[in-house]
Amino acid sequence: MEVRNVSLEAVAVEKNQYPKSNLPEVSFVGRSNVGKSSLINTMINRKSLARTSKTPGKTRTINFYNVEDLLYFVDLPGYGYAKISRSESEKWGAMIESYLKGREQLKAIILLVDIRHEPSANDKMMYEWLKHYNHPFIVVATKADKISRGRRDKHYSVIRKALGLKRDDVLIGFSSEAKDGKDMLWEVIEEMSGL
Ligand code: GTP
Ligand code: MG
Repeated sequence: MEVRNVSLEAVAVEKNQYPKSNLPEVSFVGRSNVGKSSLINTMINRKSLARTSKTPGKTRTINFYNVEDLLYFVDLPGYGYAKISRSESEKWGAMIESYLKGREQLKAIILLVDIRHEPSANDKMMYEWLKHYNHPFIVVATKADKISRGRRDKHYSVIRKALGLKRDDVLIGFSSEAKDGKDMLWEVIEEMSGL
C-alpha cells in the first residue's frame, strides 16, 4: 500500500476513548525500545508522526493512527521497561491487555523482537498469550540493518527456537532505517485485515 493520508485519530488510556469505528485494526506489541513506533512511521511513510526515542518508555498511551480511512495502526506502550514503578507497570499491563482482549475489529497483532537478541521471558509470554487466545499474529524481527544480510538467517533461527515458533508461524525481518521488509509486511497486513 502507498500511504498518503494518515492521522493520529485517538489517544486512549481506556476503552471509551477508542475510535468508534468498525475499521480493521492492526496492533504492535513488544519490549520497550524494540522499534514499534519507528516501524509504524516507516509503514506510513512518515518521519516522526509516531513519537520515538532512544530511551525506552516513550509511548505511554494507546495511539490509533487512521491509515487512508482503511484501517488503524495501533501503537502500544512497550513492556519490560525497568525504570517505572511496579504499580505503573501493572497499570500499563492492564491497559494493554484490556485493549488486546475482546476488541473485535483487531485483525492482526504484530509481535516485535530485536533481531540481535534472544527473545526475553516477556516476549515468550506474549507469544504464548497470543497462541492461547487464538489471536491472528505474526512476528517481526526489528533493526535488521544491525546484522549483515548473510548472518540474518542464523538470527531468525535463534528467535524461532527461543519463542518456540511453529513452522507455519510467520517471521519477517524489518528495518526502519533501510526500509527492509516494508513491502512484505504490508502484504501480510492487507491480507490479515481483509483489505
Ligand atoms: P516504546 O515506545 O518505549 O515502547 O519503544 P518503541 O518500541 O516504540 O521503540 P522506538 O520506535 O521509539 O525506537 C527505539 C529506538 O530504536 C530509537 O532510537 C530508534 O531510532 C531505534 N530503532 C527503531 N527501529 C530501528 C531500526 O530498524 N534500525 C535501527 N538501527 N534503529 C532502530
Ligand atoms: Mg513507542
